[in-house]
Amino acid sequence: MARRPIAAGNWKMNFGPRQAGDFARVMRDPLGAMAGAEVVLFPPLISIPAVREALGGTTIQLGAQNCSDQVGGAFTGEVAPGMIKELCNWVIAGHSERRALFGETDDMVRRKALAALGAGLRPIVCVGERLDQRLADLPPEQIDRVAGAYEPVWAIGTGRAATRQDAEDAVALIRALVAEMYGLPVAGAMRILYGGSVTAANIADFMLSPQIDGGLVGGASLKPEFVDIARAIAAARQA
Ligand code: PGA
Repeated sequence: MARRPIAAGNWKMNFGPRQAGDFARVMRDPLGAMAGAEVVLFPPLISIPAVREALGGTTIQLGAQNCSDQVGGAFTGEVAPGMIKELCNWVIAGHSERRALFGETDDMVRRKALAALGAGLRPIVCVGERLDQRLADLPPEQIDRVAGAYEPVWAIGTGRAATRQDAEDAVALIRALVAEMYGLPVAGAMRILYGGSVTAANIADFMLSPQIDGGLVGGASLKPEFVDIARAIAAARQA
């Protein structure tokens, strides 16, 4: 079964509501015209309403960069997946910056993915060196809503992307683990992205690998260059 590729833009802690809305208005027509790939933007939470308004009527999707593993209550500063679901369909779980800077463990990431699924969100679960725990024990009947992302820590924000071969090997390994846990059909259908210093200059090469189903893009998603990246992702699977 052909996997529909994903062009995901993780804006990290950039663009407050005003700037995010302005940028989304510039991007809406070129990104909205993208057939052949799902385009998902991850603005800072507080900017999501402005971006949502700017993108209204397009097929561009939105997600949050993080969520709580709780459904609600006394958790100051946290945002529950069910609240995110009111405005978005996606959430990133376990970005390496969350792990390195905010102490997220594999088990927390797994619980966040679980909570996200429970709220009807589609999690992109980031996996780095230790591949298995984050994707373990998710409900098999909801696993088709999970995407994966292989993001080597040393490639994020450094300008030093992985080679296509290294990314392909890692994604193939993740897929093999998913097959072990959930069976071959699930593994064959799961979209697994590469992330780490993706640019318009290198994405086409990554997409030559049949294993890699798109990009999770940080720095380059803050620029019009992201349109070229999304185009290359879509074109690679339309050929
Ligand atoms: P980068 O970030 O594209 O800036 O390397 C990727 C990511 O953190 O998802």
